[in-house]
Amino acid sequence: MGHYRVAVNLELTSKCNARCIMCPREAVLHPRAMKLDTLRQAVERLSPGDVFRTVIAGYGEPTTHPQFEACMQIISQAAVPMDMVSNGQLLDRERLRLIDGVVNTLIISFSSIAPQVYAAVHRNLDQKQVMDNIILARQLLKSTRLAISLTPLSSCIETLPQTINWLREQGVESLTMSPSLYDRAGSLDDASGQESSLRKIIKQYGLRSQELDFVPSLRELYLQWRCNRFKCIPRNTDLVIAADGSYQYCFNDMGHTHPLGHLSEMDIRTVLKVREGTVENPELCSSCSIRNRYRPAEFARAVYGYLRS
Ligand SMILES: C[S@@+](CC[C@H](N)C(=O)[O-])C[C@H]1O[C@@H](n2cnc3c(N)ncnc32)[C@H](O)[C@@H]1O
Ligand code: SF4
Repeated sequence: MGHYRVAVNLELTSKCNARCIMCPREAVLHPRAMKLDTLRQAVERLSPGDVFRTVIAGYGEPTTHPQFEACMQIISQAAVPMDMVSNGQLLDRERLRLIDGVVNTLIISFSSIAPQVYAAVHRNLDQKQVMDNIILARQLLKSTRLAISLTPLSSCIETLPQTINWLREQGVESLTMSPSLYDRAGSLDDASGQESSLRKIIKQYGLRSQELDFVPSLRELYLQWRCNRFKCIPRNTDLVIAADGSYQYCFNDMGHTHPLGHLSEMDIRTVLKVREGTVENPELCSSCSIRNRYRPAEFARAVYGYLRS
């Protein structure tokens, strides 16, 4: 059978300087920063035959890593494209200089131009500082692309047109959004049937659907589906390396309670083989809303979107 690649989600740190309303961070049991040796080992494991893209994100804020400069030096050695997701608060001149040319795309998460909406969603962050940093990133980044990840919460949709206008005025062209509400398994928003309305919003405002960035090719998506006993597409397209160096069953396991192995003992091809044999985990999967995204009708829409893109 053919060979498929995945995206890797690399958790540089599970500590954070924010308390965003949609983020299930309280489930992170032992917040920690990745040790530099662990990061080196992770970067060595990222072979282009297994990984088509790495996203430095996890459930923490990468820019809070206490050895950020050393991290960027190590990441610059990676053999696959490295993207980074940040809340933007600490993206000052110095960090942007370290990021430029090392990170392929820097993605800043942003909820709204309206101060009251931003403060209610991105708790603990300073909206003005983040907006200033978006402007600074536009000016300073020469080799790294800048993208904004817009927050798919009902409370942000009303001010979305103004938010998009402001970002476009700053020259930010790449605006993305997840087609799944950040509803924390239904506890924040009434998610029923809203995936298709989010897809309409994504289309209406010319945004890019984030799910497309996790598909290396339709052939590899098919192979992921064929090879894995548990046919959960969002899980099977992505592999989490947690801050402690463990490979995780799924990115939705914030508590990191189901490790599949450790960087020190197996390479990525081996852990993918281990994961292929695993089955659904009711403890994690029964309340997962992202899974619904890939019921047949949604899956067809996603494939259509991928072909159009
Ligand atoms: C968890 S954050 C980590 C990186 C960084 N701290 C940030 O906020 O951009 C990565 C992305 O996940 C998104 N996110 C937050 N809560 C989420 C949820 N419940 N479901 C899916 N994505 C979520 C954030 O908006 C952000 O774009
Ligand atoms: S900044 Fe990112 S990791 Fe931190 S609370 Fe917000 S979404 Fe979660």
